[in-house]
Amino acid sequence: MSKPYYITTPIYYSSGNPHIGHCYTTLACDAIARMKRMQGYDVMFLTGTDEHGQKIEKKAKEAGVEPQKYVDDIVARFKVRWERMGITYDRFIRTTDPYHVESVQKIFKELYDKGYIYKGEYTGKYCTPCESFWTESQLVDGKCPDCGREVVDAREEAYFFKLSEFGERLEKLLTENPEFLQPPSRVNEMVNNFIKPGIQDLCVSRSSFKWGVPVDFDDKHVVYVWIDALSNYITALGYKNDAYNDFEKYWPADIHMMAKEIVRFHSIIWPAMLMALDLPLPKKVYGHGWITFNGAKMGKSTGNVIDPFILADRYGVDAVRYHLLREMPFGSDCAFSNEIMINRINSDLANDLGNLVSRTVAMVLKYFDGKLPAGRKDDPMDNELKQMAGEVGKIAETAFENCQFSFGLSEILKVVSRANKYIDETAPWVLAKDESESGRARLAAVLYNLLETIRIVSVLLYPVMPFTM
Ligand code: MSP
Repeated sequence: MSKPYYITTPIYYSSGNPHIGHCYTTLACDAIARMKRMQGYDVMFLTGTDEHGQKIEKKAKEAGVEPQKYVDDIVARFKVRWERMGITYDRFIRTTDPYHVESVQKIFKELYDKGYIYKGEYTGKYCTPCESFWTESQLVDGKCPDCGREVVDAREEAYFFKLSEFGERLEKLLTENPEFLQPPSRVNEMVNNFIKPGIQDLCVSRSSFKWGVPVDFDDKHVVYVWIDALSNYITALGYKNDAYNDFEKYWPADIHMMAKEIVRFHSIIWPAMLMALDLPLPKKVYGHGWITFNGAKMGKSTGNVIDPFILADRYGVDAVRYHLLREMPFGSDCAFSNEIMINRINSDLANDLGNLVSRTVAMVLKYFDGKLPAGRKDDPMDNELKQMAGEVGKIAETAFENCQFSFGLSEILKVVSRANKYIDETAPWVLAKDESESGRARLAAVLYNLLETIRIVSVLLYPVMPFTM
């Protein structure tokens, strides 16, 4: 039986259109999922949408539609884009799916019954016109971050999760298990900024708005969106519901992929929830950098977004997939510009790979009518190319496994460049002038080595450029 492999994207807020920032995470997961399937794993690739919360309720109201109608429309936009980008997810979870709602209620209740959730009072700031609670740190110049008006002190009855009890275990998890949170720079960030200063209990219910999962034993309250959202990784496998039944098979997740701004939720709140539920922890949380545009994080709030559809129409899906994964350095941010993208496509895909394939195929057709003979004469000058092509598979697999897509792709492209140089070194058009048996065998060997290199490179590039390869 093949080994299970479980990979997840964050579930995306259905409050705005998908953009290439979302696309990066989803593509990264798709590339790993495809690679793992090629290696024979039984892959579960989960993505989905995060559809509750005050912000979405408000957006729907502004649009003059019911929240459900509002999110249905956005979810459809995510799904067509993922289809267009060739995303091979195995399951798509929506937090408004009834089975998920049922499980979240049961999870909340279990945490309450075990004493990890208790009732208390939430104090903060309230914007009366917006009907919104804010914490001190969310205010902008002391005013409501949404409408800019004055806020007043407010109290709200709320449930709290005893996050403060988990500080020591979380610090141990992060510092003693270097595989858990990657890249390593994120560990210091979490420990120094969040754990060391002291973790406070987390407010996990709201009663000032309705669009959320109701706390079933106290329906004035809805469950805090992050408790609702993080639970998706297990409810989608059938944890505390009958919709699916592969929790035993796939949990714990092999990797939760995301950008850095939500690493905190996944490396602190999520493990604490799982510890409280007595469940195993995910094997790896990976926080990549941001795609930036004109110097700022690409995102709905800044409005500087690019629709993946536009890029796919202009450059082709595979070129977009290649570019995004090749350009983003391991763990750091990456600026997006059309110019960088065009240069990358021209140099790597058209000049290097495209040239190698078209020159090789043209020569095989011209000199051997498209079919190489069995007799081939090797030469020591072939060794370097053969060795590189033979070793790149392991290098690329390990790189992808460690989310080092850019490095993996550049190693693959090095083999492509070496093969182009090999054409110049061996000069098949000169070899073709020797029509003796040994001359033909030498020419066949050179073209065979080129075809074999192209075969290897195509297999390795397939997870990134599935349509072309
Ligand atoms: N709904 C939460 C996640 C809950 S997971 C239990 C959320 N959603 S989001 O729509 O804001 O999307 C967050 C994710 O989208 C980021 O973590 C990242 O994976 C991806 N990205 C959004 N903008 C991005 C960039 N500009 N660059 C790279 N990735 C980006 O947070």
